[in-house]
Amino acid sequence: MKKKVLITGGCGYIGSQIALEMLRGDKFEPVSIDNFCNSSSTIPDQVQNLTGKRYKNYNINLLASEALRVVFEEHEFYGLIHLAALKSIPQSLKYPLKYYENNIISLTNVLKYCHEFKVPKLVFSSSCSVYGAEAEFPVDEQSPVADRQASSYSNTKKIGEEIVRDFSAGLDINCIILRYFNPAGSDHTGELGETPSEESGFIPKIVWKAMKGELIEIYGEDYDTRDGTCVRDFIHIQDLAEAHIQALSTTDTDQVEVINVGSGNGMTVLEVAEALKRRLAGVRFEYRNRRIGDIPCIFSDNTHAMTKLQWVPRLGLEEILDSQIKWTNTYLSRTNEDVIGNEIV
Ligand SMILES: NC(=O)c1ccc[n+]([C@@H]2O[C@H](COP(=O)([O-])OP(=O)(O)OC[C@H]3O[C@@H](n4cnc5c(N)ncnc54)[C@H](O)[C@@H]3O)[C@@H](O)[C@H]2O)c1
Repeated sequence: MKKKVLITGGCGYIGSQIALEMLRGDKFEPVSIDNFCNSSSTIPDQVQNLTGKRYKNYNINLLASEALRVVFEEHEFYGLIHLAALKSIPQSLKYPLKYYENNIISLTNVLKYCHEFKVPKLVFSSSCSVYGAEAEFPVDEQSPVADRQASSYSNTKKIGEEIVRDFSAGLDINCIILRYFNPAGSDHTGELGETPSEESGFIPKIVWKAMKGELIEIYGEDYDTRDGTCVRDFIHIQDLAEAHIQALSTTDTDQVEVINVGSGNGMTVLEVAEALKRRLAGVRFEYRNRRIGDIPCIFSDNTHAMTKLQWVPRLGLEEILDSQIKWTNTYLSRTNEDVIGNEIV
């Protein structure tokens, strides 16, 4: 019998892919809480179209503590994946209190019910941004977390990790903190993915812009990297979803285990833009000045994930770009936006 898992933010970019992979598999049954503040109520339908199976979403704001109780009363959860959060770094610099309130209070509300209803397993979504700019690369889990975080967003992740650690002390709960590097790409079908926007990550954004015939902006060409542009570690969304399934499946971890989820490869943003140029006709990019807050280089040592989770990233930049192009095409046709630069080279 499948074990029930509550996914907060289960209609978002990462949460919907995890729900999809759970429905494709035979181990876990997803249940979601998502108030659609950054997603669409049509996501469970889209997942149902792909799998023939539906997952239930409760449209509840996680800040409304009492409203959550009913979800825990209706289901017995084996695990909880806490993804729900606001995630834009620039927005968090502008509206820090909104970020602290949403990301921290949501977490404490969820943990309260985890405790009361004795949920044995928790996975918390953190971010590689907690390492900061001073770390040596590649970063492993022993690398120091920056004292002073570059944004309120990343500070909510640092504080969130500390809350999870404090919360679990003395309780019978296993907590896995996953530090994601740069999730990118879409489901291989091209039928599910992140709604593109100015706030999207680098790859979703440049594919979206290129397919609308817009100029791609690359910020900074004079960093101390192999071609002067920033280095990032892109992890395919399906590999990332699989890491969650493995995190729920493993029993071989400390009570609180921190695990990097990255590809283990650093790619420059110029290399990615050039790879896109080889796939799509008419890709244009220009350099702009460095942006405040951008870390020059970050990529993971993912050995710990491979050992503890018995997980290996299977999909690389080609699959990331191909799936992203496929999904962006679907998205643009669903929204009737003009697709200009979609001629595959
Ligand atoms: N996507 C990335 O690049 C990335 C990188 C590192 C870490 N993360 C973390 O992974 C998690 C998921 O990211 P994502 O890319 O899927 O983001 P997303 O915005 O697509 O999904 C988050 C979901 O949470 C929901 N949500 C937010 N606040 C809520 C609240 N108070 N009540 C109910 N629902 C709420 C939103 O509606 C959204 O559907 C986040 O915690 C994010 O910080 C993401």
